[in-house]
Order: sequence, then structure tokens, then C-alpha cells
Amino acid sequence: MRSNFCGKISVDQLGQDVQLCGWVMRRRDHGGVIFLDIRDRYGIAQVVCDPDFPIMFEVAEKLRNEFCVQLKGNVRKRPDGSENLSLTSGEVEVLCSEIVVLNPSATPPFLVDDENLSETVRLTNRVLDLRSLSMQKNIFLRHKVTSEVRKFLDGHDFLDIETPILTKSTPEGARDFLVPSRINRGEFFALPQSPQLFKQLLMVAGFDRYYQITKCFRDEDLRADRQPEFTQIDCETSFLNEVQIREIFETLIKDVFFKVANIQLASFPVLTYENVLNKFGSDKPDLRIKLELTDITDLVKDIEFKVFSSVANSNGRVAALLIPHGGQLSRSEIDIYTDFVKIYGAKGLAWIKVNEQKKGKEGLQSPIVKNFSDQALRNILVRCNAKDGDLIFFGSDRPKIVNDSLGALRNKIGLSDFAKKRGLFEEGWKPLWVVDFPMFEFNDDENRMVAVHHPFTSPKPEYETSLFDNPSVAKANAYDMVINGWEVGGGSVRIHKAEIQKQVFKILNISDADAESKFGFLLSSLQYGAPPHGGIAFGLDRIVALLVGANSIRDVIAFPKTQRGQCLLTEAPSRVGDTQLNELNLRVKQQPKND
Ligand code: AMO
Ligand code: AMP
Repeated sequence: MRSNFCGKISVDQLGQDVQLCGWVMRRRDHGGVIFLDIRDRYGIAQVVCDPDFPIMFEVAEKLRNEFCVQLKGNVRKRPDGSENLSLTSGEVEVLCSEIVVLNPSATPPFLVDDENLSETVRLTNRVLDLRSLSMQKNIFLRHKVTSEVRKFLDGHDFLDIETPILTKSTPEGARDFLVPSRINRGEFFALPQSPQLFKQLLMVAGFDRYYQITKCFRDEDLRADRQPEFTQIDCETSFLNEVQIREIFETLIKDVFFKVANIQLASFPVLTYENVLNKFGSDKPDLRIKLELTDITDLVKDIEFKVFSSVANSNGRVAALLIPHGGQLSRSEIDIYTDFVKIYGAKGLAWIKVNEQKKGKEGLQSPIVKNFSDQALRNILVRCNAKDGDLIFFGSDRPKIVNDSLGALRNKIGLSDFAKKRGLFEEGWKPLWVVDFPMFEFNDDENRMVAVHHPFTSPKPEYETSLFDNPSVAKANAYDMVINGWEVGGGSVRIHKAEIQKQVFKILNISDADAESKFGFLLSSLQYGAPPHGGIAFGLDRIVALLVGANSIRDVIAFPKTQRGQCLLTEAPSRVGDTQLNELNLRVKQQPKND
């Protein structure tokens, strides 16, 4: 039906007759001459309809947005000065001789390429929204990523093996989606939070290298970078250590970034979990931001200002965030930041503006310095490497609250125009590995130890013997890949010995009986010569979002869920009838009020 793509015609076709198919994106009536922008997957072609072709012109006059058309014409240069060099087809236009309406369109509820539409409108009318050039570009790039990932992994002997979707729950820390079984009354499948256990079983089965680009399901609170169903590039290997595994997958990501977007990533720095929390307050730091936290807990133990000293003397953390040139921040901006850190549990946000250090206390502006000795102040300014004109923010609380609040403040200020104008933010790509995670952390809500990664992660060898007696100090053979502040992947070397796996279950307060009923299949297969193995899973949606510069992964998923976990297009989830419920032996306890 066509000879060329709209978005691909160029000066190469000058003088040629072409036949195009696409959708009317815009129709402009220029007193006698009608200009059409015709859109297809590759972009737009400008089409000129002249009344010299009366039959065609009559059709052109009736065209409206989103009509699907086929047209014939001759490619010619656009008049001087009217070129659009940002488009492949921007130097040429098609002088139209014939148009066929393949299918008219009802009036669309919005202009498809309008960039200011609300997300609700876009997701409700997702099919039309997907027609926009920007969504076409995103979905196309997603395809290029999966295609390059497959090429790389195929080339490195990874086998693409499918694992079940109707399965037993694998704990990745979120709630499960459950599916009732009709045949086995009263029993439920869980949708996989990841293929974690199956990929380990495939290593025990001797497949050596596995990958799968697959959906995972997690019933958790949603955010811009989280969907209830999302896609992992899931990988597992045998007989490689942590460093070798990281090396393969660093090469994969470099390869994909280069092939898909011509981006050359430098070698990834490897930072420890402890180090990134201390310096950036986050285990997924955005290294484009040139701001760092400084620990001052030891410097404030004996000062009069109780907000700091009492915390410093009771296992808390007092940390400073130096903002170079921050003296230019206004009081109202500081007030906004003070409210902001409260979201993360901070009780306040102390600050010092360093106006003129040589004047001592007089040269400082701050709500807290009157309670400090000159020596304590000097120590803090020196440790933070503060210069005249800078501002220092302080957090004082339990370490988690200080890290969360100052870590978030670092991002907020670091990504602001203030930082960009003062060289505190460097454009580009800043990947890193975060390693040496703790095996466990205490969860206050559940009042028990939980796995920081997941329960199948191995401890570093030096912690193996003392694991059971001293779990809280044990470090894991686990690693996360972080790019520009997004956790794009995470993995570990796994436990391949049944005895250690059982110990970990005990530490996690999982009884022998529970371990047997939930993970019996894993424990029993570990007994048959399970090889040392490990792997990683990448969040495909996040990688694509980073590459296209989207703020939300919803912009790189063809049919995503809203923040409330709904599909506005199909109106899922939805009620089901009594017949279906009866078949499943289910009864809905209470229907919502509007029933
Ligand atoms: P993890 O839970 O870290 O590890 O997940 C791996 C990667 O998947 C992405 N991701 C998500 N993306 C979108 N929406 C979500 N709700 C979501 N949750 C996670 C992140 C994350 O880094 N089985 C282990 C991997 C392993 O150990 O090999 C796992 O699932 O980018
Ligand atoms: P206050 O003594 O409560 O009036 O607080 C004096 C200053 O310390 C104010 O600027 C508060 O924002 C700040 N502040 C109070 N509590 C904390 C805290 N836990 N961490 C950091 N700053 C705090």
C-alpha cells in the first residue's frame, strides 16, 4: 500500500513519485492550498494539496485529524526558509496528486501530540496517546533495548528459558497478587514477584546461564518508578564470583547504552553501602550531584545544643550537608526545605550561613550557633570544608531519618536550577555499583530481622561461620547497579548449600515447618550438588525511562497502571459476577458503599 514511510522521506527521494500511508496529524488551510502533516511510526511528512488536482483537493478539504489515509505525490524541496532541519523529512514536501481515505476518524477527544495533556486523559485514551510521536519514540526505543539485550546475552551463551507465572510466592519484600485455583478449591497461586527461585533451580539443573525478559508482579505502593507489573531482564549464571558477575553485566549495560543511544559509559565506580549512606544518605545516589553529607556526630557530643548532643550520645547521627554558595538561599527557600525534610521524619532543619569566617561567630548567621562554643563551630566548618558564602544544613536523629531526609534534600537541591547554575550538578551519565550490603536489617514494624536483599543471598565468606550468632554484622555478596539516582538492577551470589539456607531462614524467624512448606522444593534441590551461582535482575522499564529522559516509567510502558493500580483503558480491575465467584468458591465479604 505504500512505497515509503512518511518520517523517512528525504532529499534522497527528490523528484520521485511516492505513495504514503499514515494519519492526519494537522491540516492547515492556507487560502487555496491545504497543508497536511501525515504521521507514521517514523515521523511526519509535509504534504501540499493544490487545487490543480480537483478530485484530490475535494478529499483533502474533508480530511480531519486522525483520519487514516493513503496518498500519492511527488517529492520536492520545501521553499527556502521553510525547512525544518530537526526532521529527516524536514527539507522536503510531497506535492499530492491523489488521496484515499482508508478510514475516517471520530473527532479525537484531544490533539494527539499535545504535550500538556493530563495523565488521566492520556491513559483513558491510551491508543490515541500511543500514536503520538513521543510515545512512538519511547516504545520504539524500548524495543531496541530488548533487542540489544537479547543479542548480547545470546552472544554470551545465556539461554532464554520461561518460568511459570502461576506459581508460589517468592518473597521479594512486597505483597503477592493471588490467583484462586478453581480446580483446587480454597488454594491460591501467587504471581511471581520475580523468577528468583526458578532461575536458581535452573542453575541446579545445569543450564549454566539463563536469562528472561519477563513480567514480575508486586502489590506495593506505587510511585513514578514502580508499577504493580513491571519487566525484568532477569539473569543467572553458574561458577562465577561476584566480581565476574558484575563485570559481565556492566559490559551488557555499556553495550546497550552504546548501541541504542550512542552513549559511552565509563567504568562504573564500586562504592560500599556504608560509604554511600554516609556520603549521600542514599543507597541509590545520584552522582551527577556534587553535594555530600559530612558526619559530625563526634564533634557535637559535648555541646550545649541538646538537639545535637543528646542524639550524638545515644547512637544517633548528626550530619551536615554543605551547599556551596548556599548563602544566596533566601529564608523562604530555607523554610520550604525545612518543611520538605519533615516528609522524611526529620523534626527540623538546622542551618548556618557562613558569611565571613574570620569574624568568628559574628560572621555566621544561624538559629543555632549561640549554643555552640567557638571551638566546636570551627571544628564543624573545617570538617565540612566550608567557605565564605556557603550554607550548611544539619540533620540530627536516628541514622535512618538523617539519611532519608538529608539524602532527599541533597537530591532536591542538587536537581534544582540553583545547583545547575552554580556548577553543583553535572549533566551526563553517572553509573555505579553499590556493594557490601548488610545481610539483614531489623524491621520495627514486623519486630524481626528481614533480608536486605532477599533470603537467598549468600553472606560474604568471612561471615559464614558467625552468621547465626551475629547476623546483624554480616555482609552480603550482593550488589545494586545505580544510574543517575535510579536503582536499575540488583543481584547477588546465592546460597548454594542447604545448611546455610536453613540458618538464614531461622534468622528470619521462619520456622522449620514454614521453611519446608514454602521452600521445601528449593532446600531439597540444593542437596543434589547445587553449583555456586549468582545473578542479577534489571528493571527494563527504568532503563528505558532513563534513556528517553522520562520522569515516570509509565511513559515507557504501552499499557501501564495508574498510581492507584488501575488500567484506565480497560477499567481493570473490575467486579466479577456471582457465577464466576461461585466457581472459584469465593465470596466478597463487603461490597464498597456505592453498590
Ligand atoms: P529486585 O527486587 O532488586 O531484585 O528487582 C530488580 C530490579 O527490578 C526493578 N524493579 C521495579 N521496576 C518497576 N516497578 C517495580 N515495582 C519494581 N521493583 C523492582 C528495579 C530493581 O533493581 N530477584 C531479584 C534479583 C536477583 O537477585 O537476581 C530481584 O527481583 O530496577
Ligand atoms: P528549636 O530549638 O527546636 O527551635 O530548633 C532550632 C533549630 O534547629 C531550628 O532551625 C530547627 O529547624 C532545627 N532543628 C530542630 N530539631 C532538629 C533536628 N532533629 N535535626 C536538625 N535540625 C533540627
